[in-house]
Formats: sequence, structure tokens, C-alpha cells
Amino acid sequence: MDLFFSEKFKNMTILVTGGSGFIGSNFIRMVLKNSDERVVNIDKLTYAGNSENLAEVAHLSKYTFIHGDIGDAELLGTLLLKHQPQAVINFAAESHVDRSIVSPEDFISTNVVGLFRLLHASKDYWSKLSSAEQNAFRFLQVSTDEVYGSLAPNDPEFSEMNRFEPNSPYSASKASADHLVRAYHHTYGFPTLTTNCSNNYGPFQFPEKLIPLMILNALEGKRLPIYGDGQQIRDWLYVGDHCDAIQCVLNGGVTGETYNIGGQSEMTNLEVVSKVCQVLGELAPLSDGGSYDDLIEYVTDRPGHDRRYAVDITKINRELGWQPTQSFETGIKETVQWYLEHQGWIDRVRSGEYRDWVAQQYG
Ligand code: NAD
Ligand code: TYD
Repeated sequence: MDLFFSEKFKNMTILVTGGSGFIGSNFIRMVLKNSDERVVNIDKLTYAGNSENLAEVAHLSKYTFIHGDIGDAELLGTLLLKHQPQAVINFAAESHVDRSIVSPEDFISTNVVGLFRLLHASKDYWSKLSSAEQNAFRFLQVSTDEVYGSLAPNDPEFSEMNRFEPNSPYSASKASADHLVRAYHHTYGFPTLTTNCSNNYGPFQFPEKLIPLMILNALEGKRLPIYGDGQQIRDWLYVGDHCDAIQCVLNGGVTGETYNIGGQSEMTNLEVVSKVCQVLGELAPLSDGGSYDDLIEYVTDRPGHDRRYAVDITKINRELGWQPTQSFETGIKETVQWYLEHQGWIDRVRSGEYRDWVAQQYG
């Protein structure tokens, strides 16, 4: 097989956390399809975690699933010793801003305390490795552009030099985690990497997030709820491009550094939803010749709603040669097509039946 990871990562085991969620499962499938490396996935299987996302690779001997919590220090210590990973990639998080507004405590438990326990256990494990192994080891924290706060219309895009100004309990919890990661590098010399990525979309995204929610609601003839005036701007990135960027940072990133990742695709929420409606109109036209746009409805705004996110990707592009390969135009077509072809997945995710699938698969 071609070299997917750089020479220093040959024959490695990667410990992935939160790998049964949206981005983590896309990343694990990508690694297992393109390399011989072993992947150990620890996931708590919260409402957002779905083992069915990894059904394609679950039978592979190079894949191991562990049902567990990143906040369980004892489990982590045992796992790290048993599997001897050369890299830890932390995707595990509570990830939905609206839920963080309603129940912030879960976000502190996983995104701050859980991250701390994972970081500390990984640092303890790393400190006992040989110096060659220590040099090769990496801890990669998957974070968000939301830590930088909100931009005014003419502000420059977020660069790695921007201050953290998180505005929601979600972004504050992720910012706290990023600070801890930074501190572990500075204090202990622990070889960390942090990525701050913009809004992702693509296959396997849980249908509480904007794009899958709109696709599924539209297909069922339900209203398409747009918060406030719909003029909030996000920078959309296809999930496969995010996974490629993580691979690039793991391979070539400088320890202690942070890398912004974005799609160079700023759009208002209204533009995004209109585009979803247009693509649905092409791929699944309404029988009465009507338009999905008619389902759009303006609803009460999210409290503290950030107005604009935009990401400057100069650093990752210049230093690691990464740039997005999908435009929103191509990525959204693939995404809508995927949801159209995966009605079974949608039904099981929505009805909670996927928990039965887990019981069946893992006892
Ligand atoms: P997701 O909500 O789809 O998946 C999160 C996964 O973490 C789930 O499988 C869940 O079961 C697992 N998990 C939650 N708490 C856990 C715990 N305590 N221990 C172990 N596993 C736990 O999230 P996602 O969209 O795939 O995001 C993955 C990461 O990427 C998150 O850290 C998120 O902050 C970050 N991120 C997401 C986006 C985006 O647009 N989705 C953008 C930038 C960064
Ligand atoms: P979301 O997918 O929740 O991501 P984030 O809040 O992390 O950016 O939301 C994306 C944008 O879409 C955000 O500005 C909120 C808006 N939104 C709606 O207008 N209606 C909805 O029903 C949802 C879920 C989001």
C-alpha cells in the first residue's frame, strides 16, 4: 500500500476517540481504506455516536472498538498500555451549540474534564516511552474555529494569531480544552497538535446540524427553520477535506502548533438552505412541481448567535500544502445524494434503533 502516513508512523496504532461520530467515523474509514495502520476507537456512544457509521470496517482485524468514556482515567491507562499507540486523535466531544445552551454541563464533563483526563493519561503513557518513541508520538486535538468568537462583516478571517473569544458554552468548552493542550506542550514538552476547523458537512452527519436537518425535513415536507434573519455566515468544509487536513497535520505539523482549517466557502445560512433546496429539487423533484424553498420558515434566533465565522488557511496551505478539494457546489451534491441513498441509516438514527444495532453487533 502507498505511504499514507509519513515514514515515522509506519506500522503504528492510532487511538481515536469519538470515532463513532460524524467526523471521527469519516476519518477512521479513510485511514483503514488507505493504510495498513491499526485503529483503536474509544467512544461513549452518546446520542451522536453510532457504531453503524463504521459497519463497513468493523470486521477488519486492524480495527478495535472500545465502548468507553474519555473521562475514565483508569480505562485510558489500561488501553494505552495495551495498545501502545503512536498517536492519539481526540474527536470525542459534545458538539452541538444548541444543546450546549440547554445543557452546558455535559459539555464541561466531556470537552473539558474528559479532554483533561485523556491528555493527562496520554502524557503519562508518553513519558514512559523510549526517547525515539517519544519523538515520534503525537497527540492531536480536533477543535473548532468557534473558539475565536464572531467576526464583523469586514473583519479579516480568523488566523492562528487571533485571540480566543468564545461565545457559547460549546465554544468556551473547546477553547478551555485547547488551552489545556497548549499548556501540556509548554509545561511537559508533550508533543501536541491542534486543529481549528470550520463547519463540516457530508455523509453520516447527525441530523440535528443545519445541513442534514434541512435535507431530512425537506424530504418529509416539514418546515425548514432558519434562526433569526438567516444572514449569519459560516465557512463550510466537506468532511473528507477535514479528514485529509488532519492527516496532513499529523504527518507534518510542528508540535505545539495550531492549524486553522477551512473551506474558503463563506455563505449565509439562507444561501446554504436555498442551495440544499435547489439540489433536492434536481435530485428528488417534488411531484407537484413545487419548490422546497416554500418550506423555509424564520424562527426565533439562537441566544448569543455568532454572526460570522471565516477561516484563513494560509498557514496549513503554506507549511503542509493542504487545501480543500471540494467546492460547496460539488460537496453538497454528494451529501444530498448520500442522504437520499441512506434512508435506512436515517430511520435507524432517528428512531434510536441504532442502539439495538450496537447491542446486536457488540453484545
Ligand atoms: P459528533 O457529535 O458527531 O461526534 C462526537 C462523538 O464523540 C460521538 O461518537 C460521541 O459518542 C463521542 N463522545 C461524546 N462524548 C464522549 C466521551 N465522554 N467519551 C468518548 N466518546 C464520546 O461530533 P463531530 O461533528 O464528529 O465532531 C468531532 C470533533 O470535531 C469534535 O471535537 C468537534 O468539536 C470538532 N469539530 C466539529 C465540527 C463540525 O462542524 N461538526 C467542526 C470543527 C470541529
Ligand atoms: P449548526 O449546524 O448547529 O453549527 P454551528 O452552530 O456550530 O455553526 O448551525 C449552523 C448555522 O445554522 C448556525 O448559524 C445556526 C443555524 N441554524 C439554523 O438557522 N436553523 C437550525 O435549525 C439549525 C440547527 C442551525
